Amino acid sequence: MSFSGKVALITGAAGTIGSGAVRAFLDRGAKVIAVSRSQSSLDKLAQTLRDYNTPTDNLIPYVADVGKDEDLGRLAAEIKAEKYPVPDHVVSCSGPWWHLPELQEISVEKFREVMVSNFESHFFIYRNFAPFVLDKSGATYTLVTGGIGEGGTASLVSLTQNAQYGLAKVAIHETRAKAVRFNELRISFRIETDANWDKMVKAGQVHEGEAKHAASREFGPVFTAIASAEATDQKGNVIYVNSRAKAAELEEKYL
Ligand SMILES: NC(=O)c1ccc[n+]([C@@H]2O[C@H](COP(=O)([O-])OP(=O)(O)OC[C@H]3O[C@@H](n4cnc5c(N)ncnc54)[C@H](OP(=O)(O)O)[C@@H]3O)[C@@H](O)[C@H]2O)c1
Repeated sequence: MSFSGKVALITGAAGTIGSGAVRAFLDRGAKVIAVSRSQSSLDKLAQTLRDYNTPTDNLIPYVADVGKDEDLGRLAAEIKAEKYPVPDHVVSCSGPWWHLPELQEISVEKFREVMVSNFESHFFIYRNFAPFVLDKSGATYTLVTGGIGEGGTASLVSLTQNAQYGLAKVAIHETRAKAVRFNELRISFRIETDANWDKMVKAGQVHEGEAKHAASREFGPVFTAIASAEATDQKGNVIYVNSRAKAAELEEKYL
């Protein structure tokens, strides 16, 4: 499906998951507002996109910290002022993997840092950008989470993912009568940056087509599949993607 004339706003755009989403929307003709805290990360993103043959004419890099409501408020105000195009699709993605000890060993300072990057950011993204898509026909909002929250095995990362599940649950309830198709995308398999994946393949550490391990560029089309006009049944869902086969199933069904 072509996304020509459509606009995607993607946070965590320079990260592993977000950059795959950026590529998938650009490859299908959308304009992409790509949000990252750092200009150099955005420059690197643009270079990586070009290295793998994705044109960047429709890429709109935007420097903002998703952990700061005021930064996102600035972008929202600039969209309202028509400095940037109004999004049709929002991808809410934030938070790296944190290597953390057990809860009792985590300082209050670290707790707050992880909560901001993994959880509060998603609330800030929602409150600033959901208003653009709530009543827009054909619009989607995808909140990215991970499956590690289903068990308690990853300390505060598990905890913040449960907070993300809660946010998605409330948003699903509150958008049920709205035009937007809000979904939680719960990823439960390992995705690598494109460069890392290629290095690992070369070193024989992974193999092309592995069931539970993929490159960012291979996963990205899951986002356009969900956002596709064909995916009318993907509204108010938790979309579980735990393997390459499941990702391919979504792509085959909707793209
Ligand atoms: N990769 C996987 O295998 C995988 C699997 C399952 C679920 N997920 C989920 O997907 C989401 C993104 O993961 P990812 O693999 O793309 O992570 P990543 O490559 O480490 O990227 C993390 C993103 O979070 C942003 N971020 C916001 N606040 C941050 C902070 N305080 N410290 C560091 N980064 C911060 C970064 O944005 P800046 O550009 O501003 O630095 C960056 O784009 C997470 O919710 C993760 O749980 C990932």
